[in-house]
Amino acid sequence: MLSASQKQRPLRCSYAGAIVTHQTQSYRRSAQPMRTRRAARLDGASDARPWGMHAFTAAMLILGTLVGGCGLEVSARTIDRRVLPPPERDGGPSLTHVLATRHSVRTFRSEALDDEALGQLLWAAQGINDGHRTAPSAGALYPLKIYVADSQGVWRYVPDDHALVRERTDDRRAAITRACFGQDAVSGAPVLLVVTAEIAITARKYGPRAERYAALEAGHATQNVLLTATALGLGAVPIGAFDDATLSKAVGLAAHVTPFYVVPVGTPR
Ligand SMILES: Cc1cc2nc3c(=O)[nH]c(=O)nc-3n(C[C@H](O)[C@H](O)[C@H](O)COP(=O)(O)O)c2cc1C
Repeated sequence: MLSASQKQRPLRCSYAGAIVTHQTQSYRRSAQPMRTRRAARLDGASDARPWGMHAFTAAMLILGTLVGGCGLEVSARTIDRRVLPPPERDGGPSLTHVLATRHSVRTFRSEALDDEALGQLLWAAQGINDGHRTAPSAGALYPLKIYVADSQGVWRYVPDDHALVRERTDDRRAAITRACFGQDAVSGAPVLLVVTAEIAITARKYGPRAERYAALEAGHATQNVLLTATALGLGAVPIGAFDDATLSKAVGLAAHVTPFYVVPVGTPR
């Protein structure tokens, strides 16, 4: 669904691209002290230094090693960020055609979704369009958080960056299936979206109506996902039957985050 010019851009955005960028940054960090030491030797100062200076140099070397180490650690953490390809904002089948053909799909082929399709689904749920988001929100407060559970772990969608940040590195789909009382539609899907809300964000302005508003917003976002899945030739079903506490634990949700829907998505079988 992407235009040719959009398809030529993705290296900057791809997962592999992100790893290369971060590895380069960490190399630069650890290389910096080496350059400093070589510059000092070229000044001709190294052999004439008193013991105090040698101690200082040793301390700087240790510091440099530590900074280099930190660079690697930062790298290991930040490769868990997966920038998604830019979403298509035009084209695709007509809305009336999508409405005429949408239906719940509960059996899927095993192959994973590519990042293009996953990004399009997440953008439909909570992406940034012309400054606001693709789904409405009471008071434009945006309490929803969308999680993705796949074979690589659990990811949180960051709308401002159109990226995923990894929250867990283990496959939680079996645990999520158990929370959904073993439903086949959940166990058989390559990707599970989990639509959640931080209700307190809305409650600060709307008080007790926030629970209602959060549920309505979860419905808006999920409908966008279901229609987009249909437009992409994918299948999906909104799952509301689950045990809240078990699902929260399976996904690793914070106590103040409420799950509203699990949406299994995949290629229809
Ligand atoms: C609030 C809500 C909760 C739902 N929960 C489940 C569920 O737990 N499992 C499931 O298989 N389908 C679930 N569905 C999907 C409905 O069963 C489905 O939409 C309905 O049978 C109509 O079929 P259609 O979506 O193909 O039009 C849910 C739908 C809604 C709106």
